[in-house]
Amino acid sequence: MDVKQLVSQMTLEEKAKFCSGADFWHVEGLERLGIPSVMVTDGPCGLRKQAGESDHLGLNASVKAISYPTGSCVACSFDRELLKESGEYLGDECQAEDVAVLLGPAVNIKRSPLCGRNFEYFSEDPYLAGELSAAYINGVQSKNVGTSLKHFAANSQEHRRMTSSSEVDERTLREIYLPAFEKSIKQAKPWTVMCSYNKLNGVFASENHRLLTEILRDEWGFDGAVMSDWGAVNDRVKGVPAGMDLEMPGPGNGNTEKLIAAVKAGEMKESDLDTAVERILDFVFKYTENRKPDTKFDYEGHHEKARQMAAESMVLLKNDGILPLKKDEKAAFIGKFANEPRFQGGGSSHVNSYKVSGSVEAAKEYGVIYAQGYDTKSQEPDEGLIAEAVKTAKEAGAAVVFIGITDAMESEGFDRADMKIPACQQKLLEEVIKVQPNTIVVVECGSAIEMPWIDDVRGVLYAYLGGEAVGPAVVDLLYGEKNPCGKLAETFPLRLEDNPSYLYYLGEGDRTEYREGIFVGYRYYDKKDLPVLFPFGYGLSYTQYEYSDLTLDKTSMKDTDTLTVSVKVKNVGDRAGKEIVQLYVADDQSTAIRPVKELKGFDKVELAPGEEKTVSFTLDKRAFAYYNTEISDWHVETGSFTVMIGKSSRDIQLCAKVDVESTQTLKKTYSWNSTIGDIMADPKGAQMMGQMMQAMNPMPAPEEGADDGIMGESGMQAMMNYMPLRGLVMFAGGSKEAEQGLQQLIDALNAQ
Ligand code: BGC
Repeated sequence: MDVKQLVSQMTLEEKAKFCSGADFWHVEGLERLGIPSVMVTDGPCGLRKQAGESDHLGLNASVKAISYPTGSCVACSFDRELLKESGEYLGDECQAEDVAVLLGPAVNIKRSPLCGRNFEYFSEDPYLAGELSAAYINGVQSKNVGTSLKHFAANSQEHRRMTSSSEVDERTLREIYLPAFEKSIKQAKPWTVMCSYNKLNGVFASENHRLLTEILRDEWGFDGAVMSDWGAVNDRVKGVPAGMDLEMPGPGNGNTEKLIAAVKAGEMKESDLDTAVERILDFVFKYTENRKPDTKFDYEGHHEKARQMAAESMVLLKNDGILPLKKDEKAAFIGKFANEPRFQGGGSSHVNSYKVSGSVEAAKEYGVIYAQGYDTKSQEPDEGLIAEAVKTAKEAGAAVVFIGITDAMESEGFDRADMKIPACQQKLLEEVIKVQPNTIVVVECGSAIEMPWIDDVRGVLYAYLGGEAVGPAVVDLLYGEKNPCGKLAETFPLRLEDNPSYLYYLGEGDRTEYREGIFVGYRYYDKKDLPVLFPFGYGLSYTQYEYSDLTLDKTSMKDTDTLTVSVKVKNVGDRAGKEIVQLYVADDQSTAIRPVKELKGFDKVELAPGEEKTVSFTLDKRAFAYYNTEISDWHVETGSFTVMIGKSSRDIQLCAKVDVESTQTLKKTYSWNSTIGDIMADPKGAQMMGQMMQAMNPMPAPEEGADDGIMGESGMQAMMNYMPLRGLVMFAGGSKEAEQGLQQLIDALNAQ
């Protein structure tokens, strides 16, 4: 379809109207020109197509659909193929339900464990979030259904989400909060991007030209449409020229009038409206022209997929040998979540699930007994429920206590108050542990929790929000039908206070400063060498793996080259399993302040007992670079780097070195405030300076045996290194010759 041609036939009024939705979930259509109205719908982990009354907070029912594990859960699979497949399943469901754009994936970075929406987000690590997001988008869009990559950008808290400003310095934006978006755009070309509610450095995302045009389109090459988060528009007339094409929900009414008036008054170019409408029509026709109306999907098959995804993602955090459970030994499943699982989050991603399977039902064949233990409506311990649970726990060989966060404590729209489980669950767990030495804990919630009881239990399985098939997935893992193979996509700190954002989270009023900068998640805990409860990338299996033969295809390279890294991984246990191999890169010496190491590669390999495979990675410039704000570009400092292969971020198995040479020369400017150290770091400077210093002799060497104060020789040297050139003149007694000589030196270096 020639959308330019279509737009040229539209009146100003029609074009302005197209810049907002027709209603809550539809884009405008125009019969006169044969433009259909298409539907967009949440996302990201299941379809929430509201057929009747619309609202975006999940209050009114939507059509039955499969509820897949949420972002925080599937991220632990570290499995691109799985994410792609889940996208394909969702894409089919969209085609079957006639949905043109699925509102996801949500790729915001987990800055704090408290963010109410962490259950939807992938990770604290931008590389992991970006890789998984790109795979998911590719999956959905392979079915000719669009995605809406959200929430762009720096939307890492729910508190005052529609008014607060995320104050983030440039380097932190580039290294932490933008790369997952950048990678998704470059690798998977989402049809649309959803701008976030918040302001970024004082400017609402919905009218942020720098974000929506300069970075998104000019730098990254995005050619789709930007839609607003539902209600994120502040000033519509500023939004259109900034690159915010479609206001949602619609109709815009007042804002449509304002757009028309602005064009008529010459305050906005009509061509800006044309561009916005063209971008919207692009995705409308992309969908309708390749529609697959006959798509049908098999609910049971998709439910099974949800079960598989959950089992491939959940993380076994502790196992002193008690797991897998023996099928012929009676186990007690304790806790309401065992029977009525917590499996999805609250708010716009809430799905009207096809069918929900709990663990008690799923483990019926193993003869498990059950006690409720707590109620989810109240936090307060119920003595009667606890007494009954203790009795049940005593009757079995092992107790599996199901705990987690309730919907009321964790949801879109507000942040969690702390990292604790409800008091009633805590009390239940304490009482069960007293009577049952074989206690295992299953946790169902969307984010990290504190575990003061970790030493008193024999096993912990972190199920996250595992989707509607969570029950059988948990049972598959507990009883060893499947081998756990998920690893944490976020660090679990020992306590909330250890988290790097703790001092500044939520900010003051509408200003939230991201003062911890690039030190988010493991980047912070590693730099401070702090103990954590469970590190990023950590997870156990019922088998063991050994790593060997780390090989780099070169030991020195230019930053324009690529490096191939390979390593052998062997399953040395007696069960088949899947291992997540992680690659981290460290800059051995850097003038920029950098994390100790950063994830730059991962792969998941399936290995039969005794089997060995070689895993390969390709690293390019970005694997070694940091964002240099002086040149507004990625830069690699010439020098040595360590490539690390780990089972987790804190369990590095093998290391190798590579020298990387930068092909970018950073132009330095020298002045009277350049220090002697700065000058000496430049070869020409060192040569010229050496000659001049002899002539000037600003600080004669002390005589043999003289008292050199408390400084010593190295102290003296350091003091000289920090001396600016203007200081040298002063020490040379203000000499004219010295001044002239140094001016020549400055000029010569600047002329290089
Ligand atoms: C959420 C979005 C969602 C939209 C539509 C908003 O409240 O932030 O993620 O896609 O509603 O439901």
